[in-house]
Amino acid sequence: MKKNEVNVTPWEVSGEIDYDKLIKKFGVSKIDDKLLNRIKKHTKDLHLMLRRNIFFAHRDLNWLLDEYEKGNKFFLYTGRSPSGPIHLGHLGTWIFTKWLQDKFDVELYFQFPDDEKFLFKKNLSYEEVQKYTYENMLDVIALGFDPKKTHFLINTKHANILYPEAIKVAKKITYSVVKAAFGFNDSKNIGEIFYTSMQAAPVMVPGTLKNNKKIPCLIPLAVDQDPHFRVARDVYPKLGYPKPAIIHSVFMPPLTGISGKMSSSNESKAILTTDSPKEVEMKIKKYAFSGGKDTLEEHRKKGGNPDIDISFQYLKFLFEPDDKKLQKIYDDYKSGKLLSSELKQILIEKINSFLKEHQKKRELAKKQIDNFLFK
Ligand code: TRP
Repeated sequence: MKKNEVNVTPWEVSGEIDYDKLIKKFGVSKIDDKLLNRIKKHTKDLHLMLRRNIFFAHRDLNWLLDEYEKGNKFFLYTGRSPSGPIHLGHLGTWIFTKWLQDKFDVELYFQFPDDEKFLFKKNLSYEEVQKYTYENMLDVIALGFDPKKTHFLINTKHANILYPEAIKVAKKITYSVVKAAFGFNDSKNIGEIFYTSMQAAPVMVPGTLKNNKKIPCLIPLAVDQDPHFRVARDVYPKLGYPKPAIIHSVFMPPLTGISGKMSSSNESKAILTTDSPKEVEMKIKKYAFSGGKDTLEEHRKKGGNPDIDISFQYLKFLFEPDDKKLQKIYDDYKSGKLLSSELKQILIEKINSFLKEHQKKRELAKKQIDNFLFK
């Protein structure tokens, strides 16, 4: 692949992504004001990730709301493939998912495919994946999901529930479809080829359990996960299920700049949920890409560029919920009134106060795992 080339698949995200182009390429729809107003009718307010177009695209969301308005409640489905520690970029989708759960008062199925990264990553052992499955569950629980309405599905532990659905999906997807969707070649192992059907299965689980295939499903995800469902959505109707609706987010950029996405395997790219206040401070000061000017004098005179400044971007993604305050930071940075070091300090404080709470709840989560496992 050429340098700077944009690539978005479930296993690789690189390059500076043009999301409008991606909308066309993936065949998804943009979330417009009309749709936002429709959501707001039910939720009263709009989550910052909707107000700021971080969740920017969808499939069949109008259909989902039609059903909801007719009294046919949906369930939520999302997931996390354990392969390493959780970083701030992961949390956005789940914080938003929790908001949806609260606002619509719906069930959530949360998948931990402990097969996926084992199959896809050469040097990752099954045992390591088990360790991360446990660690990652703590982070999800710490976000405050309602244990009565939230069900964790671990692929190898809940195989009795998932596998019967996965084979029904697998039977209707040919190798050539998978090859085209993911750019696979003949060197792929046979587990990788099968995997999409495991990720597709939870969509069918509530229908099977409740003996009602017509329960709608909404999947919040980062847009790189869309290809799995683009393939699977063709299959569900053949099995008697409606196509799930999807709501897509952009990626939270890595510390080092706005292209690609955060990755926990590289210290310089991501802030982990277990980082200490000192580590957070060090990472932001040392690595967070700055949109400021090289010298103080030049910055005061010409101002910085918040649109490429990672500290500003993180405030926008999650850490400054107040739109007015965010706008003021934007304006002050652009005019040169606010310096890069000051902007970084604002972010350091915000993240550290968030992580202080998160880490407390993460400790408490150790006793709660059993309440979340699907039974
Ligand atoms: N494949 C996802 C990952 O790499 C995990 C996942 C499983 C998922 N099911 C999902 C993500 C449904 C979004 C929606 O982390």
